[in-house]
Amino acid sequence: MGKKQTTDKLRLVRAAARARKRAVAPYSTFAVGAALLTHSGRVITGANVESASYGLTCCAERVALFKALTSGRREFVALAVVARIAHGPMPCGACRQLLAEYAPHAKVWVADSRALRDIREFRVAELLPAAFLEVPPNCD
Ligand code: THU
Repeated sequence: MGKKQTTDKLRLVRAAARARKRAVAPYSTFAVGAALLTHSGRVITGANVESASYGLTCCAERVALFKALTSGRREFVALAVVARIAHGPMPCGACRQLLAEYAPHAKVWVADSRALRDIREFRVAELLPAAFLEVPPNCD
């Protein structure tokens, strides 16, 4: 792997680790941070936010994605996700769906907050194969 790619990876993983510190996770106490890298080199971060009505909780990945999209960003090169869990946190199914729709070409880098240099890489397409990407036009 090239030097630039290695630097990008660690830089983005570190941004996710910093974002994780702002997680609002009083129920699970599982703090997750995420960082998206845009085509133009911008980094947009997010962390999970939980609710007393548990199902309203929003994952770090979606917080970062929604922030980025509503700031006008559209082209994503990579997403880093960090939490204190062996081998790093894997995005949940809901986040995979949104990534398939809005960041289909992004690489997904996951790392344990205790070992930031130990980064696993996935492609969105392998995390959610055969995704539902389009609502068919009304045909009745
Ligand atoms: N969570 C994330 O933010 N991202 C993941 O990839 C996995 C799960 C959050 C949601 C919830 O606040 C907590 O982790 C426990 O599920």
